[in-house]
Amino acid sequence: MKKIIIFASGSGSNAERIATFFKDDKNTQVSLILSNNPKAGVLERAKRLQIPSIVFDRQAFYHSEIVLDIIQSQNPDLIILAGFLWKFPENIIKNFPNKIINIHPSLLPKYGGKGMYGGFVHQLVIENKETESGITIHYVNENYDEGTIIFQTKTEVSVNDTPETLAEKIHRLEYEHFPKVISSLLK
Ligand code: GAR
Repeated sequence: MKKIIIFASGSGSNAERIATFFKDDKNTQVSLILSNNPKAGVLERAKRLQIPSIVFDRQAFYHSEIVLDIIQSQNPDLIILAGFLWKFPENIIKNFPNKIINIHPSLLPKYGGKGMYGGFVHQLVIENKETESGITIHYVNENYDEGTIIFQTKTEVSVNDTPETLAEKIHRLEYEHFPKVISSLLK
């Protein structure tokens, strides 16, 4: 049995999509969802999907081995960051080489780095009159959005797009590709 754990800070629609994709897969299980945000929508989703969840704070994440211990106790094959907004600490990254992957809502290296998440990315893409944007799935290293790229795909940005309509296009790409890329990495 392959095990996935998911970190998410917000709504968690990608997390839900991943969980649903693997629901009937006897060889793969989403065993835990972790969040830094006690108000995150992903926690409601986890409950509904009957997946255990854990909330942690900064102290536990950056100044203790609590989160590392939790991850190690799961012995995951992959650690997925799906809309997770805190920088991953080095001690966790070091313990899971090539096992932590993130999805980013732009064509990295464009529009990556600290503070570049969700709506801020789409806002800037539109302000800069880009004609295309997309998604990037990449390994996580100690710098924001700089790990080796695993997968990218594009979508058109039209002159009528708003940050909201672009976010919808990007989410559609994420839902379509993220579970499949995860699945291929588990093979
Ligand atoms: C996703 O679009 C994801 O790419 C983005 O946050 C959104 C989370 O949506 N991640 C980042 O911006 C990371 N820098 P969700 O909570 O509905 O899955």
